[in-house]
Amino acid sequence: MNTLLQVTGLHVHYGAIEAVKGIDLSLAQGRITALLGANGAGKSTTLLTLSGLVRASEGSIDFDGVELRELAPHQIVSHGVVQVPEGREILTTLTVRENLLLGGYRRHDNIAADFKNVLEWFPRLNERLDGAAGNLSGGEQQMLAIARALMAQPRLLVLDEPSMGLAPLLVREIFKILRELNAGGLTIFLVEQNARQALKIAHHAYVMENGKLVLSAPAADMLNNSKVVEAYLGA
Ligand SMILES: Nc1ncnc2c1ncn2[C@@H]1O[C@H](COP(=O)(O)OP(=O)(O)OP(=O)(O)O)[C@@H](O)[C@H]1O
Ligand SMILES: [Mg+2]
Repeated sequence: MNTLLQVTGLHVHYGAIEAVKGIDLSLAQGRITALLGANGAGKSTTLLTLSGLVRASEGSIDFDGVELRELAPHQIVSHGVVQVPEGREILTTLTVRENLLLGGYRRHDNIAADFKNVLEWFPRLNERLDGAAGNLSGGEQQMLAIARALMAQPRLLVLDEPSMGLAPLLVREIFKILRELNAGGLTIFLVEQNARQALKIAHHAYVMENGKLVLSAPAADMLNNSKVVEAYLGA
């Protein structure tokens, strides 16, 4: 299994607070990797650091032979690491169509084909293309955020709590789409509080606690180990 992204010795500080305390993790090409853990563990900080939105104080982030650590966020996107942020951050006053086109704004090739593809993944968005994105339901906004990320042609799709605030039916729909995108070859790195759902679609999982990785195992093993589930995943 090829490694697409390798994080080594990563430390991240917010002033005097050390939010990430020297983690090593790798993402296998073509797989779904989940990063689980309690509130404040450092999951979002880890993701933001991969995308260049927060700076590491130490360590390296190797993406298919390219060191990302010193790159600007837009350069990281151009290399194919595209993140769906926590809270979605869609542009609510723009239309669904405009949000999607913004996702592809760095590309110079013909994006019409991808636009069509993305709408096939998310037929709900197709019906709302010219409506304001702010009028979409929470679940539809999450779909738009994922669809917009896909417009940037990711080689690695990074998601921070895509199920947050969504009804169970929509959570299942979003996870089903992630599984299908992965079946099409997309590598996915997923942060989730919804540990069981995440472990069901992931191949490998890490558990983070207080800035450190305390567990790394195949997702199926984690799901079947009730001690692990109780100790780390609060379920
Ligand atoms: N901008 C910031 N400035 C200062 N401290 C921060 C900042 N963002 C996060 N922190 C702190 O860093 C630590 C890790 O936060 P982070 O958001 O990465 O956790 P998380 O695992 O994503 O939590 P959650 O599950 O609640 O989203 C926490 O102690 C948090 O208070
Ligand atoms: Mg978070």
